[in-house]
Amino acid sequence: MSNEKSAVTVADKSAVIIGGTTGIGRGIARTFAEDGANVIATSRSKDAVTKITEELRSIGAETTEVTCDVRDRTSIENLRDVAVDIFGEVDVLINSAGATDHASLLEMTDSQWNQGIDVFLTGVFRACQIFGRSMDHGSIINISSMSGRQIRENRPVYCAAKSGVNGLTRAAAVDLAPNIRVNAIAPGFVKTELSGERLADGSPVREIIDERTPLNRVADSDEIAGTAVYLASDAASFTTGEVLTVDGGYDRSAL
Ligand SMILES: NC(=O)c1ccc[n+]([C@@H]2O[C@H](COP(=O)([O-])OP(=O)(O)OC[C@H]3O[C@@H](n4cnc5c(N)ncnc54)[C@H](OP(=O)(O)O)[C@@H]3O)[C@@H](O)[C@H]2O)c1
Repeated sequence: MSNEKSAVTVADKSAVIIGGTTGIGRGIARTFAEDGANVIATSRSKDAVTKITEELRSIGAETTEVTCDVRDRTSIENLRDVAVDIFGEVDVLINSAGATDHASLLEMTDSQWNQGIDVFLTGVFRACQIFGRSMDHGSIINISSMSGRQIRENRPVYCAAKSGVNGLTRAAAVDLAPNIRVNAIAPGFVKTELSGERLADGSPVREIIDERTPLNRVADSDEIAGTAVYLASDAASFTTGEVLTVDGGYDRSAL
């Protein structure tokens, strides 16, 4: 890219990544830091936050340790205050918090339903609102899933929440315009703690997925980061309300 306005880089930007201590969020946090961004990566676990913060510091990023639970509004407000305190302003917010849920529609309890929605959807709403109120420019990226469009067995709350994240992303893009862009990334199958043994090399499910995916494999946890860099960068300055699928072609495949 030849000029500053179209550069695919997050150098010198300040980013907050919720759910940034493992998996996809950690991959984004490290990639942003390697590209010259200052990054706070957070989650509920103090130990996990300490570990990623040390990693980011060793890469050269300005950062600090702060835990956050997206189920708790006060905790997100505290995160925003800490971020504004050390960065002055936040340029990029990434919502990547997630936890496992598996239950069929017929067996799911109200409590399981509410817990899933609270983390995967309401948590994204809270963070978009709290940071949206204090950011006067920049970009928010929500990590959705191809399950926001596709049928997945035993995942009613996950599919519903991720469809909701796609809708919330579009609505927030309008409400936070023109200064803040809001987009989502819908990953396909990515090897992380959340996907666990299911996507391990040689598992029966893996064989089916690999066969059906044009790129013939699942993603490593850091392969979503490039898309996040693009969406957060000035190269995406006219992109908002978009949900970008990053799935090796799985969703579109007729294989
Ligand atoms: N892996 C895939 O195949 C895949 C595919 C499509 C979409 N996604 C989406 O990508 C996102 C990240 O998933 P992942 O696979 O990277 O999972 P992961 O490795 O398990 O990471 C999840 C992250 O979220 C944090 N977290 C969980 N509950 C939280 C809460 N209440 N408040 C704040 N942070 C919380 C976790 O840390 P703590 O436990 O310390 O809080 C961790 O940092 C999720 O939204 C998931 O739905 C994943």
